[in-house]
Amino acid sequence: MAALRSVLRLRGFRRLWLVLAAASFGDWIGILATALFASAQFENTAAQGAAFGGTIAVRLLPALVLGPIAGVLADRFDRRYTMVIVDLLRFLIYGSIPLAPVFGASPAQTVAWATIATLVGEAITLIWIPAKEAAVPNLIPKSQIEISNQLTLITTYGITPILAALMLSALTAGLQQSGVSLPSWAQPVQIALYINAFSRLATALVVFFGIKEIGGKSEERRRAAEQSMTRQFLDGWKYLGSTPLVRGLVLGIFGAFAAGGVVIGAARTFAYSLGAGEAAFSLLFGFIFMGLALGIGLGPMIVKELSRRRWFGMSIVLASGSVMFLGFAFHLSMALVGALMVGAGAGMAFLAGTTLLYGEIEDAVRGRVFAVVQIGVRTVLLLAITVAGVLVGLGSSRRVQFGPIGFDVSSTRILLLVAGAIGIWVGIGAFRQMDDKRGVPVLADLIGSLRGRPLSPPEEFVRSGMFIVFEGGEGAGKSTQVTRLADALKAEGRDVVVTREPGATDIGARIRGLVLDRDKTEAPSPRAEALLYAADRAHHVATVVRPALTRGAVVISDRYVDSSLAYQGAGRTLPVQEVSWLSAWATGGLKPDLVVLLDVDPGVGLTRVDSRGVGTDRLESESRAFHERVRYAFLDLAASDPKRYLVLDASRPVDEIADAVVQRISGLLSPAEASVS
Ligand code: TYD
Repeated sequence: MAALRSVLRLRGFRRLWLVLAAASFGDWIGILATALFASAQFENTAAQGAAFGGTIAVRLLPALVLGPIAGVLADRFDRRYTMVIVDLLRFLIYGSIPLAPVFGASPAQTVAWATIATLVGEAITLIWIPAKEAAVPNLIPKSQIEISNQLTLITTYGITPILAALMLSALTAGLQQSGVSLPSWAQPVQIALYINAFSRLATALVVFFGIKEIGGKSEERRRAAEQSMTRQFLDGWKYLGSTPLVRGLVLGIFGAFAAGGVVIGAARTFAYSLGAGEAAFSLLFGFIFMGLALGIGLGPMIVKELSRRRWFGMSIVLASGSVMFLGFAFHLSMALVGALMVGAGAGMAFLAGTTLLYGEIEDAVRGRVFAVVQIGVRTVLLLAITVAGVLVGLGSSRRVQFGPIGFDVSSTRILLLVAGAIGIWVGIGAFRQMDDKRGVPVLADLIGSLRGRPLSPPEEFVRSGMFIVFEGGEGAGKSTQVTRLADALKAEGRDVVVTREPGATDIGARIRGLVLDRDKTEAPSPRAEALLYAADRAHHVATVVRPALTRGAVVISDRYVDSSLAYQGAGRTLPVQEVSWLSAWATGGLKPDLVVLLDVDPGVGLTRVDSRGVGTDRLESESRAFHERVRYAFLDLAASDPKRYLVLDASRPVDEIADAVVQRISGLLSPAEASVS
């Protein structure tokens, strides 16, 4: 509750949520009313059915045509304007549907217009959705994304459709009872359509005047928009293909919707196979919806700190497993439990999926990713429902009797089993792609999380990137080599982060001043110096190195732990064991994959430093003996762990050294990891 209140305290989000609730209410009532409106134009039932089905199908079709470019538009243009313009258009288009008869259109013309208008309205909605979805995360701090999603999903799929259905039937029933006859342009269905239209106008106005934060463009988006639209389009696909998290998410979402579509398509015959007919059908759907609400509303409370990436895959497996369970259910009560679990799994997957999409995808490509998701979902759902409907219609069924228990083995049940199995397979696939706790046993992690104690992953599994450190004495030429390596790796299209110690962060820069400035009258004592370097390192690892490694980047750092061992340990003659322990504590044990040691004779190195002409810092001006100790400390460290070190003579030509480094590293980096760009 407190979390809910604090997310609603964000003004931008609060406004957006309110207007989206209104818009969603308008949409639902519009969907119901358009379908009714179209079928009401005809007397005979067959034509009615066709008209009803026709308008629904039309809502799904434009996705294929317009979807692919919608995402590019959302990433390219100002999202606020995109939303506002689309909503104004929708206001006009939806508003025109109920007015058609007033302008003397025949029933057939009216239906035709309703169809065209819906088609156009849906088409431009496809532009609106990615723009909205990409903009929302910018309004909310990352830690509050999940709760805000819970709120939005429950509003959109739980509260507003029910309110809309209630309101529509209340309108119709109320009018019939009161016997008042309204003019032809103000029948209940038409009123519903007006509500739909005006809810869009309201959204446009609120977004334009009230949520200015959505507007504007980040630096990255501005730069991306300088490319051609085709380029941006292709880049979107490349991002999708090369980012395991996104691949897993998209795969999982499609799989879940396919399984869901099969259940919808098969539901009617399945309900009859339980011998409970139409009532069972409604009950099953009711339970699925209840499950959805439970999954979305209570899911996070149940799984607590469980990794959301893992939760996503697990939820899909739960939903699909429950679909299989439905295939075996021989009694209505079993089927209801199955339906509830299908809903719960799907709801949790939906919540985890949207939270990950919102929280983990860069602003610059978010529109395109959401576009792919929305097109895919619509297509997959439509296909699955249709195919399931056809298959179920084809099959016949046989009744099997085990003593007192009898049930039908039908194509419906086989379909449910197959769909469930495929769903489980997809869920596991998604889990594997996205897993951020590799090496942690799944079941133990889940049980631990339910009890409030998720397992933490062993160190070596946390990161997927690569950590390379350059070490060496003064004037060894580290910075040149760091740049050379970074350029070489970037040219291969890798994600590279160049950093250094001390001083890579704001805090670090201030610490750097404390330890290295010479004009300070007071120099830190050796232990204080060691602690300051360790403090810089702790902050550096936590805020720069680890996040980059988790993302899969190659991190190249100019100096790391070994510098402390050499300078503070050997140089200042503090106990090396203690310095080592201090650094291990500061970094949480993070070790580089490779240390490149540029070995230089202090005599040569310090001359190089002097020739810079910028004066020496506090450590550079230490005695020659100090720097000798540092040099041999580095060499000792390298000798004690040759697999992790590459020692190169810093007096060799720059190109030679750079080549040697690249060669060593190409053996470490797998080509598969190289596809990130
Ligand atoms: P650096 O910025 O690499 O300077 P340079 O490019 O001149 O080598 O390092 C600054 C100084 O900090 C360097 O003299 C080594 C010292 N240092 C330590 O004494 N302990 C440490 O843990 C680190 C990271 C650096």
